[in-house]
Amino acid sequence: MDILKSLSNQSQYSQTKLQWIIGAWVLASAVEGKPKISSTDGDLAEEDYDKASLYSLLYSIYSSMGDVENEFGVKYEFTFNTWGYAWPTTWPASGIKADDPQRFGKNAYTGHFHWKIIKDFIAQKDGKVHLVEMGCGTGAGAHHICKNVLPNCTYEAVDMQKTAIETCRRKHVPELNGRLVATHANATSLSVKDTSADIVVINETHVTEMVGVVTPEDEKFFQTAYRILKPGGYLVWANAIPTGTWQASFDYLKTIGMNLLEVEDVTDLAIQARDEDAPRANKYVEDCLNRFVGFKIPVLGTRRRKQAQEGLKNFFRSPGTRLYENMKDRSDTYKVVLMQKA
Ligand SMILES: C[S@@+](CC[C@H](N)C(=O)[O-])C[C@H]1O[C@@H](n2cnc3c(N)ncnc32)[C@H](O)[C@@H]1O
Repeated sequence: MDILKSLSNQSQYSQTKLQWIIGAWVLASAVEGKPKISSTDGDLAEEDYDKASLYSLLYSIYSSMGDVENEFGVKYEFTFNTWGYAWPTTWPASGIKADDPQRFGKNAYTGHFHWKIIKDFIAQKDGKVHLVEMGCGTGAGAHHICKNVLPNCTYEAVDMQKTAIETCRRKHVPELNGRLVATHANATSLSVKDTSADIVVINETHVTEMVGVVTPEDEKFFQTAYRILKPGGYLVWANAIPTGTWQASFDYLKTIGMNLLEVEDVTDLAIQARDEDAPRANKYVEDCLNRFVGFKIPVLGTRRRKQAQEGLKNFFRSPGTRLYENMKDRSDTYKVVLMQKA
């Protein structure tokens, strides 16, 4: 069983199914050559996983975990699949509580709307703007924006993972009285109407990952953003991606008619967020791993547990992992970007 490549983004895996999947993965290690996930820094090569399979596994685990406690005993459901960043002191206050377990994710979503240009645009429309998010995960950020940042907006949250969209429909959609719609679709071929969005949100969506290159998938993804935006509409985008991929993406976006208005590098604050968030992230990883009996199998289980532990920590960009180091040495940079459709 190759859990990194063979799971479906159309399926939600129950706790029982997850036990079998992890058990099979542990046993498969008996015949595996070099492990794909590094046991020292969690590194995983791009060619060794398929993002549809990886996120399918992760969202099923998050969903099966339900409410958990952070390191201070504060209960929350892990729904922000977001690294985020510590709030810049030069920006207007965010209003997000300093003890909120998912504050860095909330910062990342709130930060899209700190620019004066977009504030003025939204104010001109009395806050009645329509947003489409491409790669919303569980819709936690969409819910935060609708509830706390833009209380008069409407929002369509799109993700390619069925489990993430089911979580959005269960946890976030009902409270918003029709203002939030959750759509299960691949954003590269989206049925959202042309020129229907005032603002497109891209928040840590798993695209533009190749160093210095805009892939054919990235092109289709950006073309969708352009197509669904109204003329003069805005793209707000934030992520930690390979440093050289930022300029390659801006250059491509320019060729399709998207102008770069604002860009701010918040990598230092993203590193600070990962440092401060490490106790919560590490506790969450341990809580997840403790649920799986497969990891209790002598030798094979112990070895796989270490790979899973480091792999998950790397996914969270926790200190000591490859992705954390990539931010430290600036091979990856976290930027917050505002663009406009010409
Ligand atoms: C790191 S998660 C971020 C999720 C969410 N934006 C957040 O910050 O919590 C990356 C997300 O991108 C989604 N994704 C990647 N490529 C996509 C595509 N082509 N269409 C829709 N979703 C995509 C994945 O399914 C995953 O949910």
